[in-house]
Amino acid sequence: MEQRRIVLGVTGGIAAYKTPELVRTLRRGGAAVRCAMTPAAGEFVAPLVLQTVSGEPVRTGLFDRVEEGAIDHVALADWADLLIVAPATANTLAKLAHGLADDVVSTVALATQAPLLVAPAMNVNMWRHPATQSNLATLRQRGVRVVGPETGALACGWEGEGRMAEPAAIAAAAALVGGPRPLAGEVVLVTAGGTREPVDAVRFLGNRSSGKMGFAVAGEAARRGAEVVLVAGPSALPTPAGVRRLDVETAQEMREAVLGELPRATIAVMAAAVADFRAARPEIRKIRKEDLPSEETLTLELVRNPDILAEICRHERRPVVVGFAAESQDLVETARRKLARKGCDLLVANDIAREGSGFDSDTNAVVFVWPGGEVEELPSLPKTEVAALLLDRVAKLRGGDG
Ligand SMILES: Cc1cc2nc3c(=O)[nH]c(=O)nc-3n(C[C@H](O)[C@H](O)[C@H](O)COP(=O)(O)O)c2cc1C
Repeated sequence: MEQRRIVLGVTGGIAAYKTPELVRTLRRGGAAVRCAMTPAAGEFVAPLVLQTVSGEPVRTGLFDRVEEGAIDHVALADWADLLIVAPATANTLAKLAHGLADDVVSTVALATQAPLLVAPAMNVNMWRHPATQSNLATLRQRGVRVVGPETGALACGWEGEGRMAEPAAIAAAAALVGGPRPLAGEVVLVTAGGTREPVDAVRFLGNRSSGKMGFAVAGEAARRGAEVVLVAGPSALPTPAGVRRLDVETAQEMREAVLGELPRATIAVMAAAVADFRAARPEIRKIRKEDLPSEETLTLELVRNPDILAEICRHERRPVVVGFAAESQDLVETARRKLARKGCDLLVANDIAREGSGFDSDTNAVVFVWPGGEVEELPSLPKTEVAALLLDRVAKLRGGDG
């Protein structure tokens, strides 16, 4: 953030009370910050607070005169190398999508050539409204970056999506905007983590996948400028900056989320450990020992889960597809067979029997297996580095240079 010149446009949502903290976070990172506010924003945070924490005059009105002899909103627009609108109200998102310019924030947004990052915050129903979603789609299409919103308890009393991303997450997303963006224009769909297949009300069949590899790929793809959707099995890992996360539990939920996002995806990296089988008849209640025919054994009938990787490889709107294979023996041969069977463009095989590799480890020793049968063996590396090398290869498949 060193040397960055950021204009923070604050609009009239309750989350405006968090913007002094955002200004401080951005400044701690080395950025210079100037604030502009809509009239409604002034109802939620005092301009004097933002002026004090930013150390700069705050623009509250389009017709304020701050700099003698300059048209102020144009001077501010030209000064910025990044415009952040946080919180971004439903109203301001609508204005930004349609090019309205009737307050200092929307006018600066129209006049600036700097990239725009918005942090929406609103009531869950306002967020889900088709008008808001369509405005957001317009903005995304235009290259506007979006951070959040988060899901949780909302100030209005509702539960759901609509909370502004935390200041640290907005600052992290801001750091990504403006750097080199070799994957700009790509939509990367990543799956991560293990699935959980319910057996009864309290038990499930799961696996040891931590999600670290998929989360690393998602974070790296976002850093390279891609729009990233992460479909994640249960995981306590934080969502990487700039990534849209869809949480799922079962293989069937994962399949639905993946197929829902697939039409827009240009690259799919399927790093999740999806359960091959699920309980044929999960009990709604807890299974009690006393109710079983035998206290010593319990027979569970399992049925096959959908094969998500094979399905997307066959899909008519097929993106470039990278599959993962976790093997404990005959790594390369098993991976070659899996690649041929599924039909993906690259298979990343990892040897889970090896020390410092596979599930829950921060490092991974992988082999890239290509459709021609060639293999590329990598040493044990941090998962973030494996992610970077993987995306270098994928970018080549897409005709870029990563
Ligand atoms: C107490 C209160 C809280 C509000 N919170 C939000 C909010 O979080 N998000 C939002 O989009 N609108 C919110 N609104 C409505 C906006 O303030 C209203 O749409 C306003 O016109 C937005 O103006 P602006 O976009 O120019 O700042 C809230 C209104 C009130 C009275």
